[in-house]
Amino acid sequence: MRSRLLILACILASCATAQNRQETVLSNGWQFSHDKETWQTVRVPHDWAIAGPFDKKWDLQVVAIAQNGETEATEKSGRSGALPWIGEGHYRRIITIPADCRHAELVFDGAMSEPVVSLNGRKAGYWAYGYNAFRVDLTPFMKVGDNLLEVDLQNVEESSRWYPGAGIYRPVTLVMTGPDWIDPWKTFIRTTELKDGKATVEVTVGAGSQPAERPVYEVELRDAQGKVIGHQHTTETNRLGETTFTFVVKNPQLWTPETPYLYYAHILYTQDGQLLDKTTQRFGIRTVKCSKEGGFQLNGVTRKIKGVCLHHDLGPLGAAINKSALIRQIKTMKEMGCDAIRTSHNMPSQMQMEICDSLGMMVMAESFDMWIYPKCKNGYARFFKEWSTRDIENLLLANRNHPSIIMWSIGNEIPEQNSEEGAEIAESLQDLCHRLDPTRPVTQGMDRAEEALKNGFAQVMDVPGFNYRVHKYQKNLEQLPQGFLLGSETASTVSSRGVYKFPVEVTDNSQYASWAPTYDPTAILKADGQCSSYDVEYCSWSNLPDDDWVWQDDKDWVIGEFVWTGYDYLGEPTPYDEYWPARSSYFGICDLAGLPKDRYWLYRSKWNKEQHTIHLLPHWTWGKERQGKVTPVYCYTDYPSGELFVNGKSQGKISKDPTSRLDRYRLRWNHVKYEPGEIKVIVYDADGNAAGEQILKTAGAPSALKLSAWTELTGHMGTNALAFVTVSLTDSEGTLIPQADDQLTFEVSGAGTFEAVCNGDATSLESFKAPTMKLFNGQLVVIVRSAQEPGIVTLKVNDAQRGLSNTIDIKIE
Ligand code: GAL
Repeated sequence: MRSRLLILACILASCATAQNRQETVLSNGWQFSHDKETWQTVRVPHDWAIAGPFDKKWDLQVVAIAQNGETEATEKSGRSGALPWIGEGHYRRIITIPADCRHAELVFDGAMSEPVVSLNGRKAGYWAYGYNAFRVDLTPFMKVGDNLLEVDLQNVEESSRWYPGAGIYRPVTLVMTGPDWIDPWKTFIRTTELKDGKATVEVTVGAGSQPAERPVYEVELRDAQGKVIGHQHTTETNRLGETTFTFVVKNPQLWTPETPYLYYAHILYTQDGQLLDKTTQRFGIRTVKCSKEGGFQLNGVTRKIKGVCLHHDLGPLGAAINKSALIRQIKTMKEMGCDAIRTSHNMPSQMQMEICDSLGMMVMAESFDMWIYPKCKNGYARFFKEWSTRDIENLLLANRNHPSIIMWSIGNEIPEQNSEEGAEIAESLQDLCHRLDPTRPVTQGMDRAEEALKNGFAQVMDVPGFNYRVHKYQKNLEQLPQGFLLGSETASTVSSRGVYKFPVEVTDNSQYASWAPTYDPTAILKADGQCSSYDVEYCSWSNLPDDDWVWQDDKDWVIGEFVWTGYDYLGEPTPYDEYWPARSSYFGICDLAGLPKDRYWLYRSKWNKEQHTIHLLPHWTWGKERQGKVTPVYCYTDYPSGELFVNGKSQGKISKDPTSRLDRYRLRWNHVKYEPGEIKVIVYDADGNAAGEQILKTAGAPSALKLSAWTELTGHMGTNALAFVTVSLTDSEGTLIPQADDQLTFEVSGAGTFEAVCNGDATSLESFKAPTMKLFNGQLVVIVRSAQEPGIVTLKVNDAQRGLSNTIDIKIE
């Protein structure tokens, strides 16, 4: 008892005879150089390539993309983003080590790529894979006082199928302790049982250093309000100096996407009543299971995964992660009704996982896009044999306490699906995951069902995940002992925000470019490298959202899906892989600026069960050339029927039709002829009662810049808070001018600075980092960064062409 009191007193007074743990995120004070001669001061996270300039010469790949079924090599100019990410990058800064520090390490959440870390001119660490978290022990190299930290990076060409980013693009944390310290990667908190209103929670803890003599571990569990709900201590450890506690929590508040309840474990490491180290670990109480009987179950409750795949870049911010931007991403997806993300195709950042924990977003945490057989010449295949075990270890050890993570993925469309060796590798990677974390199932995304099933590759997986090819699901299932499957990657529908192509045709290979084969003789005039937002265009290997939903709805054994993708991302501009300029994707449900495309409302109408959706398309502001022409009108809504009016004239009342591919989930009026004025839909519920309406009007003369800010600036985030201001050109009544491409300029004053701008146009070569850009279909998003001190930041947007301007004040608390 005496020793307990002493420890508690130490905690309260924050005094300990050993050095207190100090964790410092190293954001400022970095210098960056390409050649070690000219240096510039930068903030980390940092992406050296995102400012551009865009140029097709960067990483110009002359390749056949085998995954897309290509057999002949052709020039792929925008494949990895057409940004200058190839080459060397060097970072340096001073870190100060106090006299009482006995152990110091750096925790990198990822650095692109092949980081070599040196302290005082001596190599202290290296990691091959740019996407993984890794730690570097500085202790043997450090001295009291100032130490020179250097990080050298190199990116080689043809190492990626998308834009990887460049630089120290995720946070770096300096951790300093006394000689005896808790290793957070040995801390493992998991729910092993939920029964009769009680949860069994096991907590394993261990030291990073040589285990102390007579160590005592003490663990206190607290709920979100700080109330202690469990407290234990022990002197018993295994030979590795680790120990496991078992807690029974009565009436636990279970973590779900809808109720992301978080608990805290306070861990104390002591010796003879003296505090050696203490840490805090957030956790959630929840179980995950996949089975033939229950499908995917969270806390014993079956639910279908409504997921999206996300690449790691943040559009105009590049790969440099930022909390506000990640929160905006996750919240926007949640409002659509999405409950899961897949971190395609690599390890997530801790920051993103923390946000998923607290906002309630389930996660499939992925690792690799290739194993031994390369998908691109210099990709991860160079490292797989030597590094894959360490990479999986770091992924799991760094992330296994995040309740949001519901499964691990060991790969995406791995070419070894076609070999027996592939099945062996799959099994051994999965075993490794099980050893490090017996609580979560393991999956991977397979695209060659026949081969994967022939070789037993699919059968060994806890969760057989199939990418696309829904028409094979039934046959796959028949060969799967698991009795269920996951749509690990679905749809790959392509569209550009605000672009509508006529005639509307369902197609798996549509390109509107000067060289494209086309059925429309006037298409050459409309060649613009865009895809249509009628959401009926996809790729030869993929399908429409509607095609996936049929399987999700009609088959219990399809446990959910991850749509390709939630947002557009840099690189992979399919179907314009060979078209310049095209440098970012068309797959997103939201565009690269984070603005919803029409498809957002289609998914929302299906997924969001809390709110109704009524969304009409296309816009209703067309020129003379469309007058009298067939201009189909679609309505994305959760309601079963609706009546459309054009300038008051009914176009018919229609209902969704479960037997039709495109009418099961959408209301479509395919023969509407355009005339200026307005269109109006009235939707009806299942009982035939009018339930809501939406009107779209033909816009008048452009007369205003409308500014609306999305901001998440609660709590003091220093210079890390971002505000996202959507700029729309409208007429005097607020109707969007839907095809406007005015050149705008931006001025930021007060408590913030201009950060970036993006209009979502995949063919734009304007820099994200210059304070000017064209509108794309009437809109763009300006990103403003907060200053260190709170205050008001003012954004002024100018449209010189029309003599318009507007300002918005954003309060930074
Ligand atoms: C998949 C692949 C993704 C992306 C997608 C585009 O086959 O896993 O990374 O390339 O195709 O449709």
